[in-house]
Amino acid sequence: MNMAASHARGKVPADKIFGANAKAVEAIGKYGKDKVTNGTQGVLLDDTGTLVCLPTVEKVLRNVSTPDLIGYAPIRGLADFLTNVIDFTLGDYRPDAYIQSIATAGGCGALHHAIWNYSEIGDTVLTTDWFWSPYRVLCKDALRQLDVFALFDENNNFNLQNFSSKTAAVLQKQESVLIILNTPAHNPTGYSLSDSDWDAVIDDCRSHAKTGKRITLVVDVAYLDFTGNADSRKFFQKFSNLPPNIFVIMAASMSKSFTMYGQRTGAMIGISSDQEAITEFVNVNEYTSRATWSNINRGAMKTLATICQDKPLLAQVQKERNEFLQLIQGRAAIFTSEAQQIGLNILPYIAGFFLTVPSDRPEEICNKLHDANVFLVPLDKGVRMAVCAMPTNKFPGLAKTIKEAIQAVEKQ
Ligand SMILES: Cc1ncc(COP(=O)(O)O)c(C=O)c1O
Repeated sequence: MNMAASHARGKVPADKIFGANAKAVEAIGKYGKDKVTNGTQGVLLDDTGTLVCLPTVEKVLRNVSTPDLIGYAPIRGLADFLTNVIDFTLGDYRPDAYIQSIATAGGCGALHHAIWNYSEIGDTVLTTDWFWSPYRVLCKDALRQLDVFALFDENNNFNLQNFSSKTAAVLQKQESVLIILNTPAHNPTGYSLSDSDWDAVIDDCRSHAKTGKRITLVVDVAYLDFTGNADSRKFFQKFSNLPPNIFVIMAASMSKSFTMYGQRTGAMIGISSDQEAITEFVNVNEYTSRATWSNINRGAMKTLATICQDKPLLAQVQKERNEFLQLIQGRAAIFTSEAQQIGLNILPYIAGFFLTVPSDRPEEICNKLHDANVFLVPLDKGVRMAVCAMPTNKFPGLAKTIKEAIQAVEKQ
């Protein structure tokens, strides 16, 4: 008997990432950690396979006062968090615009609110064809549909043409469009839009906006601090003086930047040339927070505020994060150079936690890799590898193992 309401029926959580991880954990139980390569989870593990918490973050978090640890927080977020999260996220590249923030339950919470409050029920939301699978779940659960444009053209450059034509097509049938772009260090490819890609995206949005229809750009910056590129925030300045019917929402997260995944803290940062749109942003999203989770983790917000208000502390956090960033870069370098040597095709990786091998038989390849005790995540059109989570010693030879698995599957 279906007891769930009609709109809720048929929803079954099927998270491929957690599913693949469960298989890896089972294999570790059987064969031991050393024998298993678990490249499923998007968390930072050091070379002993231990979950990393940046030491200074841990120190600050553990020193949060008891009232701040256990007390309720304002629904909108702690005042010092709200200003510091803007300063931290935008860095030296604050656009010339009205800017406000709302505390959210991680970056996921920011995406949830953006979808709920900036698209109509039944609307199509747009993102890239390579995307973090929860985007679809978030849209479906909010009674929206997710449609995609091709992230890459035939030369593996940003596909502006498809971005533009899909946006136009959606705007033909809707009064507004919500577009989610995950950059820099995109999950699952590791791609980052270049400054000129951004110029083109913004020019294109400006031209669509001339119809008078509304465009909301959600920039998912979950991996912003894992690019190794000092200029990775530069594109934020391009959000200056946009027409009032282009609204930007940054989805920021403490999960990766502060290694605080389970503390569920992030923010949505609204950017607009229109003050009223920003006042509305604060109101509608605070309302939705009340209706969704009420207030979020006060201790985690305090941790961010404490770190960001203390320059030496912040510098120490950045230094510690950079050490792990180098670890990730080293792992990715081994893989990408071996892949190139043996002719294994990978999507254009620039930075970040993940790398992807495109394929039209991802499930079979992942299953084949299980024979070698390698656990990766099958996506719709490829196999994702969490560079962040695999010890460096697992990388030499991995490209070859994957290539052999592909060849074995192709022979079947
Ligand atoms: C692309 C992307 N966006 C957003 C998030 C949000 O993470 P959280 O809700 O933990 O902040 C993640 C986490 O894996 C992600 O990969």
